[in-house]
Amino acid sequence: MRTRRPFVGGNWKMNGDLAGGVELAETVSAGSREAVMAIDMVVFPAFPYLQSVGRALGHSGVALGAQDLSAEANGAFTGEVSAEMLLDLGVQWVLVGHSERRHVIGEREELVADKLRMALDSGLRAVLCVGETRAERLAGDAHEVVARQLRSALSSVDREEWDRLVIAYEPVWAIGTGVSATPADAREAHREIRSTLASLYDAELSETARVVYGGSLSPGNVTTIVAEPGVDGGLVGGASLRADDFLAIASAIARAA
Ligand code: PGA
Repeated sequence: MRTRRPFVGGNWKMNGDLAGGVELAETVSAGSREAVMAIDMVVFPAFPYLQSVGRALGHSGVALGAQDLSAEANGAFTGEVSAEMLLDLGVQWVLVGHSERRHVIGEREELVADKLRMALDSGLRAVLCVGETRAERLAGDAHEVVARQLRSALSSVDREEWDRLVIAYEPVWAIGTGVSATPADAREAHREIRSTLASLYDAELSETARVVYGGSLSPGNVTTIVAEPGVDGGLVGGASLRADDFLAIASAIARAA
Protein backbone atom coordinates (compact mmCIF):
# COMPACT_ATOMS: atom_id res chain seq x y z
CA MET A 1 0.00 0.00 0.00
CA ARG A 2 1.22 3.45 -0.87
CA THR A 3 1.31 5.63 2.21
CA ARG A 4 3.46 8.41 0.83
CA ARG A 5 1.56 11.66 0.50
CA PRO A 6 2.39 13.18 -2.90
CA PHE A 7 4.11 16.55 -3.05
CA VAL A 8 4.24 19.36 -5.59
CA GLY A 9 6.41 22.44 -5.23
CA GLY A 10 6.51 25.54 -7.39
CA ASN A 11 10.01 27.02 -7.42
CA TRP A 12 9.52 30.55 -8.71
CA LYS A 13 13.28 31.25 -8.64
CA MET A 14 14.30 34.91 -9.23
CA ASN A 15 11.27 35.75 -11.36
CA GLY A 16 8.36 38.15 -11.39
CA ASP A 17 7.49 41.10 -9.23
CA LEU A 18 5.49 41.67 -6.07
CA ALA A 19 2.10 42.23 -7.73
CA GLY A 20 2.58 39.27 -10.06
CA GLY A 21 3.62 36.98 -7.21
CA VAL A 22 0.59 37.93 -5.13
CA GLU A 23 -1.73 37.40 -8.09
CA LEU A 24 -0.15 34.03 -8.86
CA ALA A 25 -0.53 32.96 -5.23
CA GLU A 26 -4.18 34.05 -5.19
CA THR A 27 -4.98 32.15 -8.38
CA VAL A 28 -3.13 29.03 -7.24
CA SER A 29 -4.90 29.15 -3.85
CA ALA A 30 -8.31 29.54 -5.43
CA GLY A 31 -7.74 26.67 -7.85
CA SER A 32 -6.18 24.19 -5.47
CA ARG A 33 -9.06 23.29 -3.16
CA GLU A 34 -9.35 19.71 -4.34
CA ALA A 35 -5.66 19.05 -4.86
CA VAL A 36 -4.65 20.12 -1.34
CA MET A 37 -6.88 17.40 0.10
CA ALA A 38 -4.73 14.74 -1.57
CA ILE A 39 -1.25 16.23 -1.88
CA ASP A 40 1.14 18.68 -0.22
CA MET A 41 1.32 21.87 -2.31
CA VAL A 42 4.03 24.46 -1.70
CA VAL A 43 5.14 27.60 -3.52
CA PHE A 44 8.66 28.98 -3.19
CA PRO A 45 8.80 32.72 -4.00
CA ALA A 46 11.93 34.85 -3.69
CA PHE A 47 12.78 36.14 -0.20
CA PRO A 48 11.40 39.70 -0.58
CA TYR A 49 7.95 38.42 -1.55
CA LEU A 50 7.55 35.73 1.11
CA GLN A 51 5.40 37.72 3.47
CA SER A 52 3.01 39.07 0.83
CA VAL A 53 2.71 35.71 -0.92
CA GLY A 54 2.11 34.05 2.44
CA ARG A 55 -0.77 36.44 3.08
CA ALA A 56 -2.20 35.76 -0.37
CA LEU A 57 -2.09 32.01 0.27
CA GLY A 58 -4.06 32.55 3.46
CA HIS A 59 -5.71 29.39 4.72
CA SER A 60 -5.88 27.75 1.30
CA GLY A 61 -3.75 24.83 2.38
CA VAL A 62 -1.00 25.77 -0.10
CA ALA A 63 2.11 26.15 2.04
CA LEU A 64 4.81 28.81 1.85
CA GLY A 65 8.40 27.81 1.11
CA ALA A 66 11.73 29.60 0.74
CA GLN A 67 14.35 28.84 -1.89
CA ASP A 68 17.32 28.81 0.46
CA LEU A 69 18.41 29.53 4.02
CA SER A 70 21.61 30.28 5.89
CA ALA A 71 23.47 27.48 7.62
CA GLU A 72 24.11 29.95 10.47
CA ALA A 73 21.65 30.88 13.21
CA ASN A 74 22.35 34.63 13.20
CA GLY A 75 25.15 37.19 13.25
CA ALA A 76 27.50 38.91 10.83
CA PHE A 77 26.53 37.15 7.60
CA THR A 78 25.70 39.94 5.21
CA GLY A 79 23.00 39.07 2.73
CA GLU A 80 22.04 35.79 4.37
CA VAL A 81 18.58 34.87 5.68
CA SER A 82 18.19 32.69 8.75
CA ALA A 83 15.76 29.89 9.48
CA GLU A 84 14.29 31.97 12.33
CA MET A 85 13.60 34.84 9.96
CA LEU A 86 11.83 32.47 7.59
CA LEU A 87 9.74 31.00 10.40
CA ASP A 88 8.86 34.54 11.44
CA LEU A 89 7.28 35.07 8.01
CA GLY A 90 5.22 31.90 8.16
CA VAL A 91 7.56 29.84 6.00
CA GLN A 92 7.08 26.09 6.50
CA TRP A 93 9.29 24.61 3.77
CA VAL A 94 12.72 25.35 2.38
CA LEU A 95 14.68 24.13 -0.64
CA VAL A 96 18.16 22.91 0.18
CA GLY A 97 20.89 22.18 -2.36
CA HIS A 98 19.02 23.23 -5.49
CA SER A 99 21.24 22.67 -8.53
CA GLU A 100 21.44 26.40 -9.22
CA ARG A 101 22.82 26.92 -5.70
CA ARG A 102 25.27 24.07 -6.15
CA HIS A 103 26.41 24.74 -9.72
CA VAL A 104 25.81 28.45 -10.34
CA ILE A 105 26.43 29.90 -6.87
CA GLY A 106 29.00 27.23 -5.97
CA GLU A 107 27.57 25.72 -2.77
CA ARG A 108 29.62 22.75 -1.68
CA GLU A 109 28.24 19.51 -0.31
CA GLU A 110 29.33 20.33 3.26
CA LEU A 111 27.37 23.59 3.15
CA VAL A 112 24.31 21.81 1.76
CA ALA A 113 24.53 19.34 4.66
CA ASP A 114 24.84 22.20 7.18
CA LYS A 115 21.83 23.98 5.67
CA LEU A 116 19.74 20.84 5.84
CA ARG A 117 20.77 20.38 9.47
CA MET A 118 19.79 23.97 10.25
CA ALA A 119 16.45 23.64 8.48
CA LEU A 120 15.47 20.49 10.35
CA ASP A 121 16.83 21.73 13.69
CA SER A 122 14.70 24.85 13.30
CA GLY A 123 11.50 22.92 12.68
CA LEU A 124 11.27 23.69 8.96
CA ARG A 125 10.35 21.07 6.38
CA ALA A 126 12.99 20.64 3.69
CA VAL A 127 13.22 19.58 0.07
CA LEU A 128 16.73 18.26 -0.50
CA CYS A 129 17.57 18.55 -4.20
CA VAL A 130 20.03 16.13 -5.79
CA GLY A 131 20.93 15.36 -9.38
CA GLU A 132 23.75 14.81 -11.82
CA THR A 133 25.04 17.10 -14.58
CA ARG A 134 24.99 16.06 -18.21
CA ALA A 135 28.76 15.40 -18.15
CA GLU A 136 28.40 13.21 -15.08
CA ARG A 137 25.60 11.29 -16.74
CA LEU A 138 27.53 10.83 -19.99
CA ALA A 139 30.49 9.57 -17.97
CA GLY A 140 28.25 6.92 -16.43
CA ASP A 141 28.54 8.49 -12.98
CA ALA A 142 24.95 9.65 -12.47
CA HIS A 143 24.01 7.16 -9.78
CA GLU A 144 27.26 7.55 -7.89
CA VAL A 145 26.99 11.36 -7.91
CA VAL A 146 23.45 11.27 -6.56
CA ALA A 147 24.39 8.65 -3.96
CA ARG A 148 27.30 10.83 -2.83
CA GLN A 149 25.07 13.91 -2.54
CA LEU A 150 22.61 11.90 -0.45
CA ARG A 151 25.29 10.38 1.80
CA SER A 152 26.79 13.78 2.45
CA ALA A 153 23.58 15.70 3.12
CA LEU A 154 21.88 12.96 5.13
CA SER A 155 24.84 12.03 7.32
CA SER A 156 23.30 13.70 10.37
CA VAL A 157 19.62 13.18 9.57
CA ASP A 158 17.79 10.78 11.89
CA ARG A 159 14.97 8.62 10.70
CA GLU A 160 12.50 10.47 12.97
CA GLU A 161 13.14 13.59 10.90
CA TRP A 162 12.02 12.06 7.62
CA ASP A 163 8.42 13.12 8.04
CA ARG A 164 9.75 16.66 7.40
CA LEU A 165 11.94 15.79 4.44
CA VAL A 166 11.34 15.31 0.72
CA ILE A 167 14.04 14.38 -1.77
CA ALA A 168 13.82 16.01 -5.20
CA TYR A 169 15.66 14.19 -7.97
CA GLU A 170 16.48 16.94 -10.43
CA PRO A 171 18.89 16.00 -13.20
CA VAL A 172 20.74 19.23 -13.94
CA TRP A 173 20.51 18.66 -17.69
CA ALA A 174 16.70 18.65 -17.48
CA ILE A 175 16.28 21.84 -15.45
CA GLY A 176 14.99 24.74 -17.49
CA THR A 177 15.88 23.02 -20.77
CA GLY A 178 12.42 21.91 -21.86
CA VAL A 179 13.76 18.36 -22.07
CA SER A 180 12.64 16.31 -19.08
CA ALA A 181 14.00 12.95 -18.10
CA THR A 182 12.08 10.12 -19.72
CA PRO A 183 9.73 8.21 -17.44
CA ALA A 184 12.17 5.30 -17.60
CA ASP A 185 15.11 7.55 -16.60
CA ALA A 186 13.07 8.91 -13.70
CA ARG A 187 12.06 5.42 -12.60
CA GLU A 188 15.63 4.21 -12.62
CA ALA A 189 16.98 7.24 -10.77
CA HIS A 190 14.27 6.99 -8.14
CA ARG A 191 14.97 3.30 -7.71
CA GLU A 192 18.66 4.06 -7.19
CA ILE A 193 17.82 6.79 -4.67
CA ARG A 194 15.63 4.41 -2.70
CA SER A 195 18.35 1.80 -2.76
CA THR A 196 20.82 4.37 -1.38
CA LEU A 197 18.29 5.23 1.34
CA ALA A 198 17.94 1.54 2.15
CA SER A 199 21.70 1.30 2.62
CA LEU A 200 21.90 4.51 4.69
CA TYR A 201 18.84 3.61 6.80
CA ASP A 202 16.77 0.51 6.08
CA ALA A 203 14.22 -0.94 3.70
CA GLU A 204 11.29 0.53 5.54
CA LEU A 205 12.62 4.07 5.33
CA SER A 206 13.42 3.65 1.63
CA GLU A 207 9.79 2.66 1.07
CA THR A 208 8.23 5.49 3.06
CA ALA A 209 10.56 8.34 2.02
CA ARG A 210 9.06 10.84 -0.38
CA VAL A 211 11.06 11.27 -3.58
CA VAL A 212 9.83 13.64 -6.29
CA TYR A 213 11.06 14.47 -9.79
CA GLY A 214 12.07 17.91 -11.08
CA GLY A 215 13.32 19.15 -14.45
CA SER A 216 11.10 20.60 -17.20
CA LEU A 217 7.93 19.15 -15.72
CA SER A 218 4.87 20.32 -17.63
CA PRO A 219 1.17 19.52 -17.88
CA GLY A 220 2.12 17.45 -20.95
CA ASN A 221 4.69 15.15 -19.35
CA VAL A 222 3.74 15.00 -15.68
CA THR A 223 1.22 12.17 -15.94
CA THR A 224 3.61 9.63 -17.42
CA ILE A 225 6.42 10.59 -15.05
CA VAL A 226 4.38 10.39 -11.86
CA ALA A 227 2.84 7.13 -13.05
CA GLU A 228 6.26 5.56 -12.49
CA PRO A 229 6.55 3.60 -9.27
CA GLY A 230 8.51 5.49 -6.67
CA VAL A 231 7.85 8.98 -8.08
CA ASP A 232 5.84 10.88 -5.46
CA GLY A 233 5.25 14.15 -7.26
CA GLY A 234 7.31 17.00 -8.61
CA LEU A 235 9.31 20.14 -8.13
CA VAL A 236 8.32 22.57 -10.87
CA GLY A 237 10.26 25.61 -12.06
CA GLY A 238 9.18 27.38 -15.24
CA ALA A 239 5.68 25.92 -15.39
CA SER A 240 4.97 27.01 -11.80
CA LEU A 241 5.02 30.65 -12.95
CA ARG A 242 1.77 30.03 -14.86
CA ALA A 243 -1.11 29.29 -12.51
CA ASP A 244 -2.97 27.15 -15.06
CA ASP A 245 0.04 24.97 -15.73
CA PHE A 246 0.95 24.60 -12.07
CA LEU A 247 -2.63 23.69 -11.16
CA ALA A 248 -2.81 21.19 -14.03
CA ILE A 249 0.40 19.57 -12.78
CA ALA A 250 -0.93 19.48 -9.21
CA SER A 251 -4.20 17.89 -10.36
CA ALA A 252 -2.34 15.27 -12.38
CA ILE A 253 -0.24 14.39 -9.32
CA ALA A 254 -3.35 14.25 -7.13
CA ARG A 255 -5.06 11.95 -9.66
CA ALA A 256 -2.04 9.63 -9.74
CA ALA A 257 -2.11 9.34 -5.93
P1 PGA B 1 12.20 23.66 -14.43
O1 PGA B 1 12.93 23.86 -13.02
O2 PGA B 1 10.86 23.04 -14.15
O3 PGA B 1 12.08 25.05 -15.01
O4 PGA B 1 13.07 22.77 -15.26
C1 PGA B 1 12.85 22.87 -12.03
C2 PGA B 1 13.62 23.30 -10.81
O5 PGA B 1 14.63 23.97 -10.94
O6 PGA B 1 13.23 22.98 -9.67
